Amino acid sequence: MTATLLDGNALAKKLRADVAARAAKLTARGHQPGLAVILVGEDPASQVYVRNKVKACEDNGIYSVFDRFPADLPEAKLLARIAELNADPKVHGILVQLPLPKHIDSHKVLEAIAPEKDVDGFHVANAGALMTGAPLFRPCTPYGCMKMLESIEFPLRGARAVVVGASNIVGKPMAMMLLQAGATVTICNSKTRDLAAHTREADVIVAAVGRRNLITADMVKPGAAVIDVGMNRDDQGKLCGDVDFAAVKEVAGWITPVPGGVGPMTITMLLVNTLEAAERAAG
Ligand code: GUN
Repeated sequence: MTATLLDGNALAKKLRADVAARAAKLTARGHQPGLAVILVGEDPASQVYVRNKVKACEDNGIYSVFDRFPADLPEAKLLARIAELNADPKVHGILVQLPLPKHIDSHKVLEAIAPEKDVDGFHVANAGALMTGAPLFRPCTPYGCMKMLESIEFPLRGARAVVVGASNIVGKPMAMMLLQAGATVTICNSKTRDLAAHTREADVIVAAVGRRNLITADMVKPGAAVIDVGMNRDDQGKLCGDVDFAAVKEVAGWITPVPGGVGPMTITMLLVNTLEAAERAAG
């Protein structure tokens, strides 16, 4: 193995200790940070993610409200609940777990969240502000990836970065953050011709597609940093990412494992965003 493991659990632990200490300070002043998490429907993966988010709040002194609704919840009811939470002074962050059932317009729902409580960073006001460099909140997964690269002082200025996947949740905001850090960024998508020709040139690869073994060893430049955002299951049902970990770790300079890489960092940045929302509200 040539690659150094980028340990998301270890970095998350360090950052969460800081969150817990700052949350305790706010609580002592009568301003305990609070997060509302909304889950609509029974998607098994979403249920796990949401449970982990609520538990991480509890473990770090953040108050949480967890709303579970059936899959046939009318959109108007969801919008009404968001309006309530927007007005609730105990709640500093609101997260609606995606994907939502098809009859609900996700765009409308995300726009209904007050931008100052949009700890996912998905509201157009925050997504737009990310382009100019000053959002209230950055989307948690790419933010966590940036923290991992910062933790190894990866020289992003002038580096070539390839982001595979162009979602609003990960790929697009990831590209924007890398660009702001001075990288030369290529965003690839499912229509990209000769993906390997792009990734082979990259000093940093961020894989965020959701396809097992998408990134193979021959696609990676020796010494590159490989960040795996994928969350897939292998034939044995074991959690795995988008990167062929066993082979790529022999080529890469740094690599994130799945599990134990980006996952714990996503939740950590949600806690950081919620804490900062509460700090802003407390003045
Ligand atoms: N679904 C997958 N990732 C996310 C995320 O970061 N936030 C929300 N709200 N839903 C998601």
